[in-house]
Amino acid sequence: MTVDDVDIVASIDKQSFPKPWSKETFINELTQNRYATYLLLLVNEKIVGYCGLWVIVDEAHITNIAVLPEYRGKKLGEELLKKTIQIAKEQGAASMTLEVRVSNKIAQNLYAKFGFQIGGVRKNYYTNNGEDAFVMWVKFNEKQSE
Ligand SMILES: CC(C)(COP(=O)(O)OP(=O)(O)OC[C@H]1O[C@@H](n2cnc3c(N)ncnc32)[C@H](O)[C@@H]1OP(=O)(O)O)[C@@H](O)C(=O)NCCC(=O)NCCS
Repeated sequence: MTVDDVDIVASIDKQSFPKPWSKETFINELTQNRYATYLLLLVNEKIVGYCGLWVIVDEAHITNIAVLPEYRGKKLGEELLKKTIQIAKEQGAASMTLEVRVSNKIAQNLYAKFGFQIGGVRKNYYTNNGEDAFVMWVKFNEKQSE
């Protein structure tokens, strides 16, 4: 992803999250955060999803993953996460973590397929409704989808 893709990605974000990121946040991630990589999911050259990754030393963090509603349920999110994990490993990550809404069973199911387990709860993590987040973790030397 580059700054040229921000409008489309921000629109995907808007269709995917109750509190989407602003365009400025994406631009900052792309231009100011040297730990960040943002991957685009393309179908017939159309951007239909994205995933954000930070790798700090040997720890990877998924910031966001989203697929356009009409493209969901086709294993595309799974492909995107698989590729993101591959890139994280290439950048030296030994483990990966993320936060997910306790109500977001679909995303939790996706993460579980890659070996993520719930490691804790961040209370009132989401400011739009005070919802808690599960913190999920996977260590790459443990059992997971390759
Ligand atoms: C989460 C998201 C990226 C998944 O993408 P997707 O392309 O629809 O998912 P896939 O088709 O690749 O499915 C992969 C796995 O996710 C889970 N999953 C996907 N859709 C599901 C559904 N409707 N119900 C239950 N589990 C589901 C399943 O484990 C599935 O594997 P399976 O088909 O073998 O059971 C997508 O639903 C999305 O963009 N959601 C809105 C944004 C969001 O919540 N992001 C996560 C923030 S933490």
